[in-house]
Amino acid sequence: MAEQPFLERILISQEQIKQRVAELGREISTDYKGKKPLFVGILRGGIIFYADLLREISIDCNMDFMSLSSYAGTKSTGEVRTMLDLRESIKGRHVVIVEDIVDTGLTLDYLMKSLADRGAASIEICCLLDKPCNRKVDVSPKYVGFTIENEFVIGYGLDYNELYRNLPYIGVFKK
Ligand code: IMP
Repeated sequence: MAEQPFLERILISQEQIKQRVAELGREISTDYKGKKPLFVGILRGGIIFYADLLREISIDCNMDFMSLSSYAGTKSTGEVRTMLDLRESIKGRHVVIVEDIVDTGLTLDYLMKSLADRGAASIEICCLLDKPCNRKVDVSPKYVGFTIENEFVIGYGLDYNELYRNLPYIGVFKK
């Protein structure tokens, strides 16, 4: 591939992502057999992972979406806001939140708190990437695609200032 000015290096290839997403889909389908889970996609970063993961789910399930915002450039603002809430009630449902990356954990901590009193039967997190070394609050995703170091990554849904979400791989952003 030709050198790209925004790319330090490719961290996870398209093929590695495909394989791992298929594994996660099989694992979740086994764990939730007979439970008709509700998959909640977090816009916008989680959407490409969500679309690929859902096609690897082999059991009955439902889809819904939320949009949260907290980032500006490569820095978390620390203040999370709900831009779009769920359309469906989650009362009595087994909810699986599908997110691109857990970094400080502040976004998912906010989300778990905002869903806590809505009566779900269970809530688990599935994230493609986990950056545990940067955690500020305790958030433990049950399903993790890849654990990565503290680097700013782009591609496969992840952006830098709303660019590069369309890259088919995950790369380290060149500052
Ligand atoms: P947290 O609240 O710090 O855990 O961050 C969660 C959100 O920040 C993710 O959903 C991403 O949208 C964004 N984010 C965190 N790390 C990165 C990164 O390395 N690249 C792009 N976006 C990131």
